[in-house]
Amino acid sequence: MKSDRELADIAIEAIKNSYSPYSDFKVGAALLCRDGTVFTGCNIENAAFSSTVCAERTAFFKAVSDGKREFSAIAVVGGKNGTVDGFCPPCGVCRQVMNEFCGEDFKIILFNGKDIKGFTIGDLLPESFGAKKLCE
Ligand code: THU
Repeated sequence: MKSDRELADIAIEAIKNSYSPYSDFKVGAALLCRDGTVFTGCNIENAAFSSTVCAERTAFFKAVSDGKREFSAIAVVGGKNGTVDGFCPPCGVCRQVMNEFCGEDFKIILFNGKDIKGFTIGDLLPESFGAKKLCE
């Protein structure tokens, strides 16, 4: 199983594929499945800005479309020009996607090139709207 730091290093590698000609803000993600498989993702921008997809959702959608549904952790890194010198917390939409597939034991790992921070989805998306609300 991968350590937090190993997962962060895979996320840093994923930054290389970021397509971000408009913001030049490059993000990489590494999503660890419960079976040990890792899916990477990068942000993919679009001239029609709202069509942009974040690195975290790229990783989730790659994994789910390959049949994965159970996840342990995601590492997220990013920065202007691809320089990782600050934390890059997931946006609200990505938090909502994590909430769909992940429980309280899922770890969201942020790395700034020096230190690691870990969060649960409850930390980042309290009082969330999820599947339970629709199925109650
Ligand atoms: N971005 C991500 O990839 N993940 C996030 O959680 C926050 C933002 C990307 C989207 C866009 O390409 C760039 O960062 C600037 O917003």
